[in-house]
Amino acid sequence: MSEWKVICRVDEIPRLGARRVARSGGPEVAVFRSAEDKVFALLDRCPHKGGPLSQGIVFGESVACPLHNWTIGLADGCAKAPDEGCTPAFKVKVEDGVVSLDVSELETLALHAAA
Ligand code: FES
Repeated sequence: MSEWKVICRVDEIPRLGARRVARSGGPEVAVFRSAEDKVFALLDRCPHKGGPLSQGIVFGESVACPLHNWTIGLADGCAKAPDEGCTPAFKVKVEDGVVSLDVSELETLALHAAA
């Protein structure tokens, strides 16, 4: 069974934007909110050249990387064709408007991703 860490309330994430979650051992996680208040979490690194996806603009269930405008799917972290590559996606739980992330993923997933 997963252990969850409470991050914030959904309404503390800017709509069509993101909030960054620091991790002691590795790169931040970006937690996104769509227009429909769906919440997604990706490593805050674009699969292209590591751009900060948390600073991109969310549209539909994708985010446009602020560096070179690749479109990254929020559900799977993968670039839309013709671009290629994926950044790790994190599990998200939303309950009563509160967003939580999986503790073991926060502690282990993509800790050594390039800055
Ligand atoms: S770093 Fe994201 S598109 Fe280039």
